[in-house]
Amino acid sequence: MINVAVFGVSGRMGHCLVRAIRESGDFTLTGALASPTSAAIGRDAGEIAQTGPVAVEITADRSRALAGAAVAIDFTLPEATGDNLAAAAARHVPIIIGTTGLDAARHALIRRASEKLPVLVAPNMSLAVNLLFDLVGSAAAALPAEYDIEILDAHHRHKVDAPSGTALRMGEIAAGARDSTLAAVGVYGRFGKSVSRPPGAIGFSSVRAGDIVGEHHVIFSGAGETLEFVHRATDRMTYAHGALTAARWIIGQPPGLYGMADVLGL
Ligand SMILES: NC(=O)c1ccc[n+]([C@@H]2O[C@H](COP(=O)([O-])OP(=O)(O)OC[C@H]3O[C@@H](n4cnc5c(N)ncnc54)[C@H](OP(=O)(O)O)[C@@H]3O)[C@@H](O)[C@H]2O)c1
Repeated sequence: MINVAVFGVSGRMGHCLVRAIRESGDFTLTGALASPTSAAIGRDAGEIAQTGPVAVEITADRSRALAGAAVAIDFTLPEATGDNLAAAAARHVPIIIGTTGLDAARHALIRRASEKLPVLVAPNMSLAVNLLFDLVGSAAAALPAEYDIEILDAHHRHKVDAPSGTALRMGEIAAGARDSTLAAVGVYGRFGKSVSRPPGAIGFSSVRAGDIVGEHHVIFSGAGETLEFVHRATDRMTYAHGALTAARWIIGQPPGLYGMADVLGL
């Protein structure tokens, strides 16, 4: 069995991870971290996740959460990333980081930690989305520049940022495959009377409604034909399963900075 610590265990993704770990057959939850002010401190991680007791008490003490762990999985907030990394490095525990919204300073911390520790960062842990990143790059490189690229994302009404980080990543990959950058060709939303499409633009649109877990469409449209890639996440459990796949993969890897493309062998 693989001993795993979950950082952010009291959150939406933490609950999914506790469930996925219980259902996995090869992982045991050995540590569970929440913030010091969390109402979950001292409670059983399985009770909080409503999977039934797992005899792991939720703590705000990172070192205690990591005791005996072979790998840590972090779905918290950017503010916690530095402390999470430092604790994992101090105990030589490889870490999977799913937290999004990390700024350049936090990416620099991650790069530094990865010189001594295997660290995997993936703003989207879905295996199919990570395959789609690759497919989008291939399509953007293979199809002539006359094929317009548009990217649409749809998410639940509580999502605060738009476009999604995943949509932006797809745009970066497509722009890079055409020897450009998103800063140069990205167009965000359209409204009004003079919004015709500049040549080479990559256009973004965002739908925010109801409880949509996450949907991405990447459109390549040329004269007389359109190619469309569509990915739909229907359950957050897919991110938890992706994180466990990454956790299995990272154990035994040398120190370094990894992504889901490494897990998929892309
Ligand atoms: N990579 C992916 O595939 C993927 C998928 C979904 C979400 N995400 C990202 O994962 C992160 C978590 O998402 P979520 O929906 O689960 O959020 P959430 O429900 O708000 O949960 C956040 C968790 O982090 C804990 N936390 C906050 N500050 C902390 C600190 N200083 N120290 C320790 N723990 C702390 C919270 O504890 P308390 O609230 O109990 O204090 C809670 O357990 C977000 O960045 C989200 O965008 C990534």
